[in-house]
Amino acid sequence: MRYAEPMSRGRFYVIEGADGVGSTTQCQRLVDGLQAAGRRVHLTAEPSKGPIGLLIRGMLGGDHPRAAIHRELALLFAADRLDHVGREIEPLLASGVDVVSDRYVLSSLVYQSLDLPYEWVRELNKFAPAADATVLVTLPLDVAWARLQARFAAGDPREVFDVKPTQSQVHAEYERQARRTCAVIVDGRGTIDEVAGRVRAALSGTGHWPAA
Ligand SMILES: Nc1ncnc2c1ncn2[C@@H]1O[C@H](COP(=O)(O)OP(=O)(O)OP(=O)(O)O)[C@@H](O)[C@H]1O
Ligand SMILES: [Mg+2]
Repeated sequence: MRYAEPMSRGRFYVIEGADGVGSTTQCQRLVDGLQAAGRRVHLTAEPSKGPIGLLIRGMLGGDHPRAAIHRELALLFAADRLDHVGREIEPLLASGVDVVSDRYVLSSLVYQSLDLPYEWVRELNKFAPAADATVLVTLPLDVAWARLQARFAAGDPREVFDVKPTQSQVHAEYERQARRTCAVIVDGRGTIDEVAGRVRAALSGTGHWPAA
């Protein structure tokens, strides 16, 4: 009699980056690449589509000054993350599906600690399980800012962090925090295909690409 192979866990991938660097585009490319390698893959994003995520999206797009809501946002992001993990990410990983998340803990360490003590933000997120691999996509500030400007001109709403001095801090913080947390840093310059190739090479190089 043959027994079924025990189900192996899926891998949890995160792609991060300052606004406009192309991280959302690369999440989709990563999903396509993993599927082509024969994996079952689920794409998700933070803030999540759950109740706390929706609350956050409303606050980010509202007209409160950032200083008035930064503590609330830090708490809500951490709560949304645990809800997202429990409701969506962990059950999928346990059933063998890979999960790609557009933003995760590193986003909070970067954005929330612009206004708050880093240690507090880290503490709030201490029960969020670590991703198997986190990729940071980087791009020069002016290139990313030009893309954001084009999107605002086309009618995309501006959010509380979408001002250039803040974006400048976000770019610098991402690089600092990525080094601190051992995220893989990928150069986001060039075509979408070129960047996708670098993401894949970086994941292969760190043993996170599925074996053929
Ligand atoms: N390598 C690239 N070359 C040229 N344009 C790109 C590249 N990658 C993404 N873009 C374009 O740049 C814009 C921003 O991309 P994307 O939404 O992926 O960025 P993002 O970093 O996720 O932004 P946000 O954080 O605001 O969601 C999109 O219009 C996308 O098509
Ligand atoms: Mg995005």
